[in-house]
Amino acid sequence: MATLTAKLPEKLQILFEKSRYKVLYGGRGSGKSWGIAQTLIVKGFQEPLRVLCAREIQNSIRESVHRLLSDKISELELDKFYKTTERSITGINGTEFIFEGLFRNVEKIKSLEGIDICWVEEAHNVSEDSWNLLTPTIRKEDSEIWVSFNPKYEDDPTYQRFVVNAPDNCRAVLVNYLDNPWFPDVLQKEMEQDRARDKILYEQKWLGRPVGTGGKVFPAFDKTIHIRQFDRKLIAQRGNCFIAMDPHSHYYPFITWLAVIPKNDRMNWPEDFYKHIYAEWPTFEDLGGYYYELRKKLFYKDSLADMAREIYAKDGSQYGIKVHRRFVDSRYAKGSGSWNWSTSTEGLVEQFAKSDNGGLKLECPYEKVIDAQKQVIHQDMLYNTFQPVTQYNEPTFSVDPACKNTIISLQNHRLEEDPKGDGSLEKESQKYKEPPDTIRINYAGLEDFRYQDPTGKKRKRHKGPAIKRGGNSWMR
Ligand SMILES: Nc1ncnc2c1ncn2[C@@H]1O[C@H](COP(=O)(O)OP(=O)(O)O)[C@@H](O)[C@H]1O
Ligand SMILES: [Mg+2]
Repeated sequence: MATLTAKLPEKLQILFEKSRYKVLYGGRGSGKSWGIAQTLIVKGFQEPLRVLCAREIQNSIRESVHRLLSDKISELELDKFYKTTERSITGINGTEFIFEGLFRNVEKIKSLEGIDICWVEEAHNVSEDSWNLLTPTIRKEDSEIWVSFNPKYEDDPTYQRFVVNAPDNCRAVLVNYLDNPWFPDVLQKEMEQDRARDKILYEQKWLGRPVGTGGKVFPAFDKTIHIRQFDRKLIAQRGNCFIAMDPHSHYYPFITWLAVIPKNDRMNWPEDFYKHIYAEWPTFEDLGGYYYELRKKLFYKDSLADMAREIYAKDGSQYGIKVHRRFVDSRYAKGSGSWNWSTSTEGLVEQFAKSDNGGLKLECPYEKVIDAQKQVIHQDMLYNTFQPVTQYNEPTFSVDPACKNTIISLQNHRLEEDPKGDGSLEKESQKYKEPPDTIRINYAGLEDFRYQDPTGKKRKRHKGPAIKRGGNSWMR
């Protein structure tokens, strides 16, 4: 067995040190995947090991490192030692490799026992939830978690967890193609092209340098500040409530409920009101996962009347909340396409309005102002970050903690990377678009907003400048 030390780039020697976490991060072609695969195959030959090969999303074994490990087995001439089947790899000494995705796989992951090493490959998009699920599962004495990834955004949970705020028991090294003595020619050419064409891409893809806030649409959104709970009774007593729907012909639409709640007695300017998202539908619990993952997978099979019932149930009428107006995206598939409910927004509005279908009265806000609301929402998220948050220094936008889809979307909604191929960030990526879209539609619907006291009391006329709401009065 002459070949039985894996030959590795120098920096990968950390894999042989003793540490709970071993993290290889950096650009493509630095030998991270090969190095770890070889090392694990050799280790599993030398002693019986139970190895979990995990990644965030693994729809099939093909998307796992199974193939890579099999190749390494052949290269190391260990075909007689390891038995490779389509799903598994086992060694004659009892070594075993298991392949799992972390996302939506809670029960399976939790039930895994006796893992010696967990390798999380392509870990850049592993979520906070997945890390919190995984790390206590790997609990055997001296067990280790090996992580390899090419950083993408600086605020990604993996980058934050293992690079920015690395714990003491973590060995993390940055490895790049320059560290890989076997960096292949094909990749060399690709790298040179990227370097010549796009500096930011080159640095991210090849040097492992994450992109700043990553073209976020709502960079100011901060979980610790903008998630807030308003008591439903307070919403009922003080709030004016609205909903907005981003409809879909076959799949679930997305809907958010917005309460506009006065902050003070002036009630004259937009900043005199909190805008609070108090509910969403469908929720994470309704779908058994995040909307952004499932929006193109789960058909809505029930009737419009059923949908209307779901919507009414979310209004909060049991607390006395009344929804004033209900908005729908007017840009819904403009008269084209084929779907089961209607052939245009007007058609959909008409369908919902029928009493058999629940009698929902939907309105279309003025279409042209919908996109502009992005800026207004962003403004509402701002406050002076150098000062403590107080009643006089606080954002006027918040989301209820139960609205998980809305929260994850506001955090991650980004401009698409380079849709034009010229390095500019322009188009919004679709993935997290619907929840923020509904908020925009709600805001657009507030164009001619006038606060009404839900208790029915008439408001004293205010002497200050009247807010004439046509045009852009909500825009500062
Ligand atoms: N230990 C090694 N021995 C020989 N070639 C290697 C080794 N490590 C990496 N390579 C070569 O470098 C390429 C990139 O390595 P890889 O592990 O896929 O990089 P990364 O995972 O960092 O993107 C591989 O396809 C292979 O051609
Ligand atoms: Mg790799």
